[in-house]
Amino acid sequence: MPWGLSFLRAMRRDYLGTLAKVHAQCPDAARMQVLWRRSVHVFHPDMVRELLVEQADKVQRWERVTTIFAMGTGQEGVLVTEGAQWQRQRRLLQAGFGPKRVSAYTRHMVYACDSALRALDTSPHNTPHDTPHDMHALMTRVTMDVIVRALFGHARQIDTARVSHAIHALSTEGYAQVFRPWLLPAWFPWPSVQRARRAKGWLDQLIAGQIAHKRAEAQTTPAHAPDNEAGDLLTMLLQARDPEQPEQGLSPQEVHDQTMVMFQAGHETSATALTWWAGLVARHPEVAQRLHHEVDSVLQGAMPHADCTQRMPWLMASLKESLRLYPAAAILMTRCSAHDLHCGPWQLAAGDLITITPALIQRDARWFPEPDQFKPERFLPGAPETPRGAWMPFGSGPRVCLGQHFAMMEMAIVSAMLLQRFALEWPQGHAWPEGEVSITLRPATPMLVRLTPR
Ligand code: HEM
Repeated sequence: MPWGLSFLRAMRRDYLGTLAKVHAQCPDAARMQVLWRRSVHVFHPDMVRELLVEQADKVQRWERVTTIFAMGTGQEGVLVTEGAQWQRQRRLLQAGFGPKRVSAYTRHMVYACDSALRALDTSPHNTPHDTPHDMHALMTRVTMDVIVRALFGHARQIDTARVSHAIHALSTEGYAQVFRPWLLPAWFPWPSVQRARRAKGWLDQLIAGQIAHKRAEAQTTPAHAPDNEAGDLLTMLLQARDPEQPEQGLSPQEVHDQTMVMFQAGHETSATALTWWAGLVARHPEVAQRLHHEVDSVLQGAMPHADCTQRMPWLMASLKESLRLYPAAAILMTRCSAHDLHCGPWQLAAGDLITITPALIQRDARWFPEPDQFKPERFLPGAPETPRGAWMPFGSGPRVCLGQHFAMMEMAIVSAMLLQRFALEWPQGHAWPEGEVSITLRPATPMLVRLTPR
């Protein structure tokens, strides 16, 4: 079916609402022509796997999204590279995100969360306990602190609020670029383009300074063993060696751009996911009660650590269910066919655009009965299995989120600590926020939750 500019405008105004109508008409997939571009919106999990897993070597990220991300994160980051360069980078980075390394980062997660919650508790400048807190502001503070500490091993002299502000400027402008008929180059004298350019310049300087500092430190202190699990991500990037070509590491530009990618991919997504989770728990006191009980009996008043997650099935299920209803990364999963390929009943030609929207796939009643209800029990051990690929907040196939274990651990630690210290309550009469798609799917209005110390 042919569609034109009005469809693009409708997508920009209401991305999910517009695609939901397409989904209702064509539940498995819809093929269409938007202006001069043939595209397919894929909704059936089998077809998603067919594209992202079985024919992964025949698809690439959509070049428009790649160009936009490259403007924000650099040309050499794992988020935007393709082919042999991407494979090499992915192999090298994988070492920093394995289960042992992720366990080692829990100390940063606990520290960052503890500081943010203490500040809530004690600062005279903070709102009194009976005034609801803005969950997105709180979670952004925590996840920014976590990623800075995980990357550099410390947060000394880093203005995390300014980092967060800079990343926000980049992602807002990045999303606006997706729907413009033409990409505006970084020199274009338009206020939001210039804001994003300045933000990128400031972040570049900050990262360059940290890399220089880390290199100088390495000259004066004994090197970490490459498999040192206590090291930070930046040290890992500087020391990374390709197992297939041991003399090869990452080039200086690659190290810089990976650091930028981690900053950007690894903080707003987790903050948004935790924000939705906190709101959902506050709205469902019966779930909150179970979670409090579980967290109290597992932690017994102590700080959480990596092994706790296996002993908190309700907590993990509540996080998965929240990611089902509100998957944080909304537009990362666009692809372009690099070769002719098959997709369900169709043959796609090289250059066709492919869009995969977890927010719709994960609310399909065929895979999740009562799809709009928050029911963590769907994800408890022993619950009926959902079709493979129907839950995919981190993507699927070789380009699946590199930080997914990091993110799940971070969410588990932060949510457990919040429940341990506070009762979460939904303010009476306050409306549930709609989801608003930007680079992430965030609440359109503040997510306010009353936190009462326990
Ligand atoms: C709840 C939190 C998060 C969600 C929902 C999320 C989701 C995603 C999704 C959907 C993708 C794209 C997959 C695809 O294109 O098929 C992605 C890619 C990526 N994510 Fe995450 N992410 C999260 C947290 C993180 C964190 C904490 C980090 C790093 C510290 C991270 C690093 C990355 C990187 C580097 C990629 C690009 C991987 C590649 O192209 O090879 N993410 N993420």
